[in-house]
Amino acid sequence: MKLILLGAPGAGKGTQAENISRHYSIPTISTGNILREAIAAGTEVGLKAKAIMDRGELVPNDVVISLLKERTSQPDCANGFILDGFPRNIAQADALEELGIMIDRVISIEVEDGAIVERMSGRRTCPDCGASYHILYKPADNDSTVCTSCKGKLIQRPDDAPEVVLSRLKVFHDQTEPLKEYYSKKGILKLVIGQEKVEDTTRLTFEALA
Ligand code: AP5
Repeated sequence: MKLILLGAPGAGKGTQAENISRHYSIPTISTGNILREAIAAGTEVGLKAKAIMDRGELVPNDVVISLLKERTSQPDCANGFILDGFPRNIAQADALEELGIMIDRVISIEVEDGAIVERMSGRRTCPDCGASYHILYKPADNDSTVCTSCKGKLIQRPDDAPEVVLSRLKVFHDQTEPLKEYYSKKGILKLVIGQEKVEDTTRLTFEALA
């Protein structure tokens, strides 16, 4: 299965991707995580991306399309994958088609802007393995400063600052939201209304995949 998760920043794409990935035994490809790894490693791509991401803007299409092409050609993608954070605009969606990647289903997780800003202030992420938590809604086990999976030290992402979240929301509405119409016309879009509890959104997401 080849699946796209659409949604505003903080809508819960990464959270749901973890569940879907486990259930179907397919990898999640998060362009955001790949870019953050490049920043941590100090690569040329990372150096180019850092300031752009810190402002909440989109990294240039040629950079992310090339990362995506490289990642989807890895052997673990042979049986499918979940795209989390790609495509982000129509040009990136067209690029997927040009690469011959046929998408089976697009799930858009719908969350109001007001709830997004609140969620982002409570998010904590693991820079080592990419796991995502929330201090109230999805706390890490035992010590909330340590990753449950890999024991890495949890951080607050620089782009989760409230003023950057507002800029990311604007980019989402202007550039990414039109993808709903793009995929609706292809008949592969399903909307999932994001719920207050993570497990309720998970149940609706699996219903949309059935
Ligand atoms: P990226 O890393 O993709 O960030 P994003 O899309 O903005 O999404 P997030 O990871 O912030 O949120 P999410 O929807 O995964 O939510 P999560 O599950 O963590 O991109 C970062 C940057 O990289 C971009 O701004 C851009 O600069 C660049 N970039 C990446 N891809 C690109 C591309 N294709 N083109 C160009 N540039 C690109 O959940 C959020 C929080 O809420 C968590 O704390 C979670 O625990 C909690 N939560 C989740 N679900 C619920 C629920 N139901 N109830 C309560 N809390 C919940």
